Amino acid sequence: MGKIGKLQKFAEVSAFGNCFESATELKGQWKSTVFKNNNPITLELACGKGEYTIGLAERFPERNFIGVDIKGNRIWKGAKYALEHQLNNVAFHRIMIGNIEDFFAPGEIDEFWITFPDPQHAKERKRLTNPMFLDRYRTIASTDAIMNLKSDSTRFYDYTKSVIYEQNLEVIADSDDIYQWAEIPEYLANIQTFYEKMWLKEGKKIKYLRYKI
Ligand SMILES: C[S@@+](CC[C@H](N)C(=O)[O-])C[C@H]1O[C@@H](n2cnc3c(N)ncnc32)[C@H](O)[C@@H]1O
Repeated sequence: MGKIGKLQKFAEVSAFGNCFESATELKGQWKSTVFKNNNPITLELACGKGEYTIGLAERFPERNFIGVDIKGNRIWKGAKYALEHQLNNVAFHRIMIGNIEDFFAPGEIDEFWITFPDPQHAKERKRLTNPMFLDRYRTIASTDAIMNLKSDSTRFYDYTKSVIYEQNLEVIADSDDIYQWAEIPEYLANIQTFYEKMWLKEGKKIKYLRYKI
């Protein structure tokens, strides 16, 4: 079969059993209704094609993974892979991250990932690690929830560190060049997203922060 277009992907995504769109009815119900277990949930924010949702789900079958993004045609790739490989601990949700409290209940999410977000140099209010977004994530986070950020942008990484410092958050890991880091976790090195591969080709150094929110 040849390459399929955006419109066909939109149509297919809405029929996939592991994809949901603005599903307010699932708030507080993800474990019981979607995953049918009581395992912790990791949420990948702005997941694009969902490489981390998929890669982590394969490595950690005892956890559940939800990728969220506003673009259904990007989500399609990860969702199709999960269906074809019977990854029952994976779901995708098409939503705007700014409304995240409408779709997840207090305490429902145990860990967050953000990979290669748009750095939004001109607009602090749109940066996904700003204090306003952190407060939104906190409303749905369990106690001791962890944020993971992987980025090519030195300015975005420095900005996120300034927020961590101002809020006195606990940093668990910090690397400004992960491929030079002797103790790099396997999943950090071997799961590479579409954007990461693009930035690596341009010779950019990849940064990582893992911190308690
Ligand atoms: C630069 S891409 C990175 C995608 C992926 N994480 C990767 O590394 O390949 C940024 C993604 O964020 C999504 N996005 C940006 N702002 C968003 C928002 N407020 N709500 C939902 N998705 C958003 C875009 O649709 C896009 O897929």
